Amino acid sequence: MRQLHATHYGPPRVLHVTETDPPEQKEGSVRVRMAAAAINPADIRIRQGALADRLPTLAFPFRLGFDIAGTLLDEAPGLPAASRVVGLLPWFARPGFGSNSEVIVVEPEWLAPLPDGIAWPLAGTLPLSALTAAQALDLTHIEADQTLLVSGASGAVGAFATQLALAKGANVIAVASTGDEEFVASLGATVVPRGDAEVVAAAVQRIAREGVDAVFDAAGIGSRLLCSVVDGGSFVAASAPAAPASERNVRVAGVQSHPDAERLAEIARLVGTGRLVSRVEQVFPLEDAVAAHERVERGGLRGKVVLTFG
Ligand SMILES: NC(=O)c1ccc[n+]([C@@H]2O[C@H](COP(=O)([O-])OP(=O)(O)OC[C@H]3O[C@@H](n4cnc5c(N)ncnc54)[C@H](OP(=O)(O)O)[C@@H]3O)[C@@H](O)[C@H]2O)c1
Repeated sequence: MRQLHATHYGPPRVLHVTETDPPEQKEGSVRVRMAAAAINPADIRIRQGALADRLPTLAFPFRLGFDIAGTLLDEAPGLPAASRVVGLLPWFARPGFGSNSEVIVVEPEWLAPLPDGIAWPLAGTLPLSALTAAQALDLTHIEADQTLLVSGASGAVGAFATQLALAKGANVIAVASTGDEEFVASLGATVVPRGDAEVVAAAVQRIAREGVDAVFDAAGIGSRLLCSVVDGGSFVAASAPAAPASERNVRVAGVQSHPDAERLAEIARLVGTGRLVSRVEQVFPLEDAVAAHERVERGGLRGKVVLTFG
């Protein structure tokens, strides 16, 4: 069985495909034959060593990967063997044992059924990005007819947050990347072009004169977007360390994603019926993982870069 190992912190070339015996099933766990996993910003930052302070127990070589999309090899509660599944692997809870491997051993409660008809690369874009978006929206407390500002709406998490908030009946003002305004508008959001935080805040104020009820800052713009929120509103950052200090009784929080199979099943169902969309920028086989990480680092993505394990 092949897996992707990082032998050191550093540039993409620290990644190596290695051969090992397939893992055995452990009591209470199940095996998944992996088909696809997106490369997420956290994979890049972990590999670079940017999160080393948070990972004192991480041993080399280690395996990256938050997204699970593949075929169940063992029976799990409510999921027969051979089911197509997706799941979020809580990497920070077991650092180094990620999903970038042909076969992984995981907790069955992380897994949700994947409807037929969703291609594997697309499935690989769902777990981390969509669950983070859904869990960030919870923290915003946004309700129908309220207005949410989403930064980074051209990115995976921001695009999911935009769509899920619109599905709840909220109004969404979304900051789109240059050249991607049409896609973000097609989701149903009112688009604000990417620019300096002050320019974005001024554009938002022209649309929502009194301010927005909540901000989800998926782009990590930070405190300079706080002025867009009404007094007592909510501001949710893409991570706890990125959360700015509160002002004017604004509730400030940082999202920390966690597995939620029931919610992921609903997300996958919506993707299967076309009511929720996700984008794949490029697909790389596992043996081209170095090139895949290089592609992510070059930026300008309009969808996820996805590793496949077939
Ligand atoms: N806390 C958690 O559990 C968790 C989980 C998943 C993700 N995250 C975080 O959530 C964030 C988004 O993740 P993602 O997967 O959606 O990443 P992504 O697909 O790379 O999207 C990020 C988007 O933000 C845009 N952006 C960056 N700077 C911007 C700015 N100043 N103004 C407007 N847009 C800007 C980028 O646009 P360009 O292409 O134009 O640069 C890109 O479209 C990342 O910081 C990630 O680490 C957190």
